[in-house]
Amino acid sequence: MIDPPVAPALCHPSTMVKTSYLVGEQADMLHRGSDTAWLRAASRDFGGFVADRVGIRQRWGVPSELFWFTSGEYYLGSLVIRHRLTDDEGGGHIGYHVVYPWQRQGHATQMLRDALLKCSALGIERALLTIAPGNAASLTVVHRNGGVADGMNDEGELRFWIDTPSVS
Ligand SMILES: CC(C)(COP(=O)(O)OP(=O)(O)OC[C@H]1O[C@@H](n2cnc3c(N)ncnc32)[C@H](O)[C@@H]1OP(=O)(O)O)[C@@H](O)C(=O)NCCC(=O)NCCS
Repeated sequence: MIDPPVAPALCHPSTMVKTSYLVGEQADMLHRGSDTAWLRAASRDFGGFVADRVGIRQRWGVPSELFWFTSGEYYLGSLVIRHRLTDDEGGGHIGYHVVYPWQRQGHATQMLRDALLKCSALGIERALLTIAPGNAASLTVVHRNGGVADGMNDEGELRFWIDTPSVS
Protein backbone atom coordinates (compact mmCIF):
# COMPACT_ATOMS: atom_id res chain seq x y z
CA MET A 1 0.00 0.00 0.00
CA ILE A 2 1.49 3.33 -1.10
CA ASP A 3 0.23 6.58 0.37
CA PRO A 4 -0.08 9.19 -2.39
CA PRO A 5 1.83 12.39 -1.50
CA VAL A 6 -1.33 14.52 -1.26
CA ALA A 7 -5.02 13.59 -1.13
CA PRO A 8 -5.91 12.53 -4.70
CA ALA A 9 -8.67 14.37 -6.53
CA LEU A 10 -10.51 14.40 -9.85
CA CYS A 11 -8.66 16.91 -12.06
CA HIS A 12 -8.59 17.98 -15.67
CA PRO A 13 -6.14 15.94 -17.78
CA SER A 14 -2.72 17.58 -17.53
CA THR A 15 0.81 17.10 -18.87
CA MET A 16 2.01 17.34 -15.23
CA VAL A 17 1.38 13.62 -14.74
CA LYS A 18 2.87 12.49 -18.08
CA THR A 19 5.33 9.83 -16.85
CA SER A 20 3.02 8.45 -14.22
CA TYR A 21 0.10 8.32 -16.70
CA LEU A 22 2.10 6.44 -19.34
CA VAL A 23 3.68 4.01 -16.85
CA GLY A 24 0.39 3.41 -15.04
CA GLU A 25 -1.65 2.84 -18.19
CA GLN A 26 1.11 0.62 -19.62
CA ALA A 27 1.15 -1.52 -16.47
CA ASP A 28 -2.65 -1.74 -16.60
CA MET A 29 -2.75 -2.68 -20.29
CA LEU A 30 -0.07 -5.34 -19.81
CA HIS A 31 -1.91 -6.73 -16.79
CA ARG A 32 -5.14 -6.96 -18.81
CA GLY A 33 -3.37 -8.34 -21.90
CA SER A 34 -4.52 -5.32 -23.92
CA ASP A 35 -2.83 -3.53 -26.81
CA THR A 36 -0.32 -0.86 -25.72
CA ALA A 37 0.31 0.68 -29.18
CA TRP A 38 -1.78 3.79 -28.40
CA LEU A 39 0.63 4.62 -25.56
CA ARG A 40 3.55 5.09 -27.96
CA ALA A 41 1.58 7.70 -29.91
CA ALA A 42 0.53 9.35 -26.63
CA SER A 43 4.13 9.46 -25.37
CA ARG A 44 5.34 11.13 -28.58
CA ASP A 45 2.87 14.00 -28.34
CA PHE A 46 1.53 14.01 -24.81
CA GLY A 47 0.58 17.70 -25.04
CA GLY A 48 -1.68 16.95 -28.00
CA PHE A 49 -3.02 13.82 -26.30
CA VAL A 50 -4.04 15.91 -23.28
CA ALA A 51 -5.44 18.77 -25.37
CA ASP A 52 -7.76 16.28 -27.11
CA ARG A 53 -9.18 15.22 -23.75
CA VAL A 54 -9.73 18.44 -21.79
CA GLY A 55 -13.17 19.96 -21.31
CA ILE A 56 -16.72 19.03 -22.16
CA ARG A 57 -16.82 17.08 -25.41
CA GLN A 58 -19.43 15.30 -27.47
CA ARG A 59 -18.62 11.62 -26.97
CA TRP A 60 -21.01 8.70 -27.45
CA GLY A 61 -23.34 11.38 -28.88
CA VAL A 62 -23.73 13.17 -25.54
CA PRO A 63 -21.80 15.92 -23.73
CA SER A 64 -19.17 14.23 -21.57
CA GLU A 65 -16.19 15.25 -19.48
CA LEU A 66 -13.08 13.23 -18.68
CA PHE A 67 -11.26 13.60 -15.37
CA TRP A 68 -7.98 12.14 -14.19
CA PHE A 69 -7.64 11.13 -10.55
CA THR A 70 -4.26 12.53 -9.54
CA SER A 71 -2.06 13.26 -6.55
CA GLY A 72 0.69 15.74 -7.36
CA GLU A 73 2.66 14.23 -10.23
CA TYR A 74 0.95 10.84 -9.84
CA TYR A 75 -1.87 9.57 -12.05
CA LEU A 76 -4.09 6.93 -10.46
CA GLY A 77 -7.03 6.53 -12.83
CA SER A 78 -9.65 8.06 -15.11
CA LEU A 79 -13.34 8.85 -14.80
CA VAL A 80 -15.87 10.10 -17.32
CA ILE A 81 -19.15 11.86 -16.58
CA ARG A 82 -21.82 11.80 -19.29
CA HIS A 83 -24.04 14.83 -18.75
CA ARG A 84 -26.94 12.96 -20.35
CA LEU A 85 -27.62 9.28 -20.81
CA THR A 86 -27.17 7.91 -24.32
CA ASP A 87 -30.29 6.56 -26.07
CA ASP A 88 -29.45 3.01 -25.00
CA GLU A 89 -28.19 4.23 -21.58
CA GLY A 90 -24.92 2.37 -22.35
CA GLY A 91 -22.23 3.13 -19.77
CA GLY A 92 -24.65 5.08 -17.58
CA HIS A 93 -23.68 8.55 -16.34
CA ILE A 94 -20.29 7.60 -14.89
CA GLY A 95 -17.49 5.28 -16.02
CA TYR A 96 -14.10 4.82 -14.34
CA HIS A 97 -10.95 2.80 -14.02
CA VAL A 98 -8.02 2.77 -11.62
CA VAL A 99 -4.71 1.63 -13.13
CA TYR A 100 -3.47 -1.69 -11.81
CA PRO A 101 -0.64 -0.45 -9.55
CA TRP A 102 -3.11 1.73 -7.60
CA GLN A 103 -5.99 -0.74 -7.33
CA ARG A 104 -7.43 -2.16 -4.08
CA GLN A 105 -6.61 0.95 -2.06
CA GLY A 106 -10.05 2.58 -2.00
CA HIS A 107 -9.38 4.98 -4.87
CA ALA A 108 -12.32 4.00 -7.10
CA THR A 109 -14.67 4.28 -4.12
CA GLN A 110 -13.46 7.84 -3.54
CA MET A 111 -13.49 8.70 -7.25
CA LEU A 112 -17.14 7.73 -7.53
CA ARG A 113 -18.01 9.65 -4.33
CA ASP A 114 -16.35 12.79 -5.75
CA ALA A 115 -18.01 12.27 -9.16
CA LEU A 116 -21.46 12.14 -7.57
CA LEU A 117 -20.84 15.65 -6.20
CA LYS A 118 -19.92 16.82 -9.69
CA CYS A 119 -23.08 15.19 -11.08
CA SER A 120 -25.14 16.98 -8.48
CA ALA A 121 -23.62 20.32 -9.50
CA LEU A 122 -24.62 19.49 -13.09
CA GLY A 123 -28.24 18.97 -12.00
CA ILE A 124 -28.14 15.16 -12.25
CA GLU A 125 -30.25 14.16 -9.24
CA ARG A 126 -29.62 10.43 -9.60
CA ALA A 127 -26.83 8.82 -11.51
CA LEU A 128 -27.02 5.56 -13.46
CA LEU A 129 -24.11 3.12 -13.23
CA THR A 130 -23.93 -0.03 -15.37
CA ILE A 131 -21.66 -2.91 -14.38
CA ALA A 132 -20.90 -6.37 -15.75
CA PRO A 133 -22.21 -8.97 -13.28
CA GLY A 134 -18.73 -10.50 -12.87
CA ASN A 135 -17.04 -7.21 -11.96
CA ALA A 136 -16.84 -7.79 -8.20
CA ALA A 137 -14.60 -4.79 -7.57
CA SER A 138 -16.88 -2.31 -9.33
CA LEU A 139 -19.97 -3.82 -7.70
CA THR A 140 -18.32 -3.19 -4.31
CA VAL A 141 -17.50 0.39 -5.31
CA VAL A 142 -21.11 1.06 -6.32
CA HIS A 143 -22.58 -0.61 -3.22
CA ARG A 144 -20.28 1.47 -1.00
CA ASN A 145 -21.66 4.59 -2.68
CA GLY A 146 -25.29 3.63 -2.08
CA GLY A 147 -26.16 2.07 -5.45
CA VAL A 148 -29.70 0.68 -5.72
CA ALA A 149 -30.13 -2.21 -8.18
CA ASP A 150 -32.59 -1.74 -11.06
CA GLY A 151 -32.45 -4.76 -13.33
CA MET A 152 -30.24 -5.30 -16.35
CA ASN A 153 -29.73 -3.43 -19.63
CA ASP A 154 -29.79 -4.93 -23.15
CA GLU A 155 -26.02 -5.51 -22.95
CA GLY A 156 -26.48 -7.79 -19.93
CA GLU A 157 -25.02 -5.25 -17.52
CA LEU A 158 -26.51 -4.64 -14.08
CA ARG A 159 -28.06 -1.18 -13.60
CA PHE A 160 -27.71 0.82 -10.38
CA TRP A 161 -29.07 4.24 -9.42
CA ILE A 162 -27.35 6.49 -6.90
CA ASP A 163 -28.99 9.64 -5.53
CA THR A 164 -26.47 12.44 -5.81
CA PRO A 165 -25.82 14.58 -2.71
CA SER A 166 -27.63 17.90 -2.50
CA VAL A 167 -25.30 20.84 -2.99
CA SER A 168 -26.00 24.09 -1.19
C1 LIG B 1 -13.25 -1.61 -10.70
C2 LIG B 1 -12.03 -0.79 -10.29
C3 LIG B 1 -12.22 0.64 -10.78
C4 LIG B 1 -11.89 -0.81 -8.76
O1 LIG B 1 -10.83 0.06 -8.41
P1 LIG B 1 -10.18 0.02 -6.94
O2 LIG B 1 -9.51 1.34 -6.75
O3 LIG B 1 -9.38 -1.19 -6.82
O4 LIG B 1 -11.47 -0.07 -6.02
P2 LIG B 1 -11.56 0.16 -4.44
O5 LIG B 1 -10.22 -0.14 -3.83
O6 LIG B 1 -12.17 1.50 -4.19
O7 LIG B 1 -12.63 -0.86 -3.92
C5 LIG B 1 -12.92 -2.03 -4.56
C6 LIG B 1 -13.20 -3.11 -3.55
O8 LIG B 1 -13.31 -4.29 -4.31
C7 LIG B 1 -12.21 -5.12 -3.97
N1 LIG B 1 -11.63 -5.66 -5.17
C8 LIG B 1 -10.73 -5.10 -5.98
N2 LIG B 1 -10.42 -5.91 -6.99
C9 LIG B 1 -11.16 -7.02 -6.78
C10 LIG B 1 -11.29 -8.23 -7.47
N3 LIG B 1 -10.60 -8.46 -8.61
N4 LIG B 1 -12.15 -9.16 -6.98
C11 LIG B 1 -12.86 -8.93 -5.87
N5 LIG B 1 -12.79 -7.78 -5.17
C12 LIG B 1 -11.93 -6.84 -5.62
C13 LIG B 1 -11.19 -4.24 -3.30
O9 LIG B 1 -10.32 -5.02 -2.51
C14 LIG B 1 -12.06 -3.31 -2.55
O10 LIG B 1 -12.57 -3.91 -1.37
P3 LIG B 1 -11.78 -3.76 0.05
O11 LIG B 1 -11.75 -2.29 0.32
O12 LIG B 1 -12.65 -4.52 1.00
O13 LIG B 1 -10.44 -4.33 -0.15
C15 LIG B 1 -10.73 -1.39 -10.90
O14 LIG B 1 -10.64 -2.74 -10.55
C16 LIG B 1 -10.66 -1.23 -12.41
O15 LIG B 1 -10.23 -0.20 -12.90
N6 LIG B 1 -11.11 -2.27 -13.14
C17 LIG B 1 -11.08 -2.24 -14.61
C18 LIG B 1 -12.08 -1.23 -15.18
C19 LIG B 1 -13.47 -1.40 -14.62
O16 LIG B 1 -13.93 -2.50 -14.36
N7 LIG B 1 -14.15 -0.25 -14.43
C20 LIG B 1 -15.51 -0.22 -13.91
C21 LIG B 1 -16.48 -0.41 -15.01
S1 LIG B 1 -18.14 -0.35 -14.35
